[in-house]
Amino acid sequence: MTHDISVRVNGAEGRGPVADRLTLADYLRERRGLTGTKLGCEQGVCGACTVLLDGESVRSCLVLAAQADEFDVVTVEGLTAASAAAGDLREAFARHDALQCGFCTPGFLVAGVELLARDELDEATVREALSGNLCRCTGYGGIVAAILDVHGRRGAVPITACPEETPPTHGDRRRAAVLLLLAGLALLVGLLVRRWRSRTEGGPHE
Ligand code: FES
Ligand code: FES
Repeated sequence: MTHDISVRVNGAEGRGPVADRLTLADYLRERRGLTGTKLGCEQGVCGACTVLLDGESVRSCLVLAAQADEFDVVTVEGLTAASAAAGDLREAFARHDALQCGFCTPGFLVAGVELLARDELDEATVREALSGNLCRCTGYGGIVAAILDVHGRRGAVPITACPEETPPTHGDRRRAAVLLLLAGLALLVGLLVRRWRSRTEGGPHE
């Protein structure tokens, strides 16, 4: 069975039928080409597939694409548009050595951005909130430090919906077609001039 869904991912609307058992994680990776969302356990344990669904973190391997119908999804690729703290968090991850292989990092960044929207944040709260995200490389110290570092400098940074992608208008398309035509004409004129020059310059030798 299929369902017709409409899901806004990182501000871009996508419509179409999906199989009723397709997970949101597979939909994002295979249908929307957003492979930043990783799949580890596919059982809701590791947190690698964490995305924001209407501003709240979920494990996308446990959500069906059909359940995300009419929802707003933010993946790691859309974090910068969704939170003004996302860039700082990425930079803090690098500075605090909060990643090694990086496989878990998209999930931690998404969960971290959600945490950074809180007014109050301390180490115990961060560790508790991140207990559902597993990292096999870092020992978590750097990850916790990076999140606290950004919160300490910026305070609470709310998550906003990604701005909607505006489809090109009829006028935009006409302008693009005219520009393409002019570029083609310029190329043709350039070629004709070069040919004419090479003929006139090389005339006596022909
Ligand atoms: S892949 Fe979804 S929680 Fe592990
Ligand atoms: S950095 Fe390798 S699993 Fe976390």
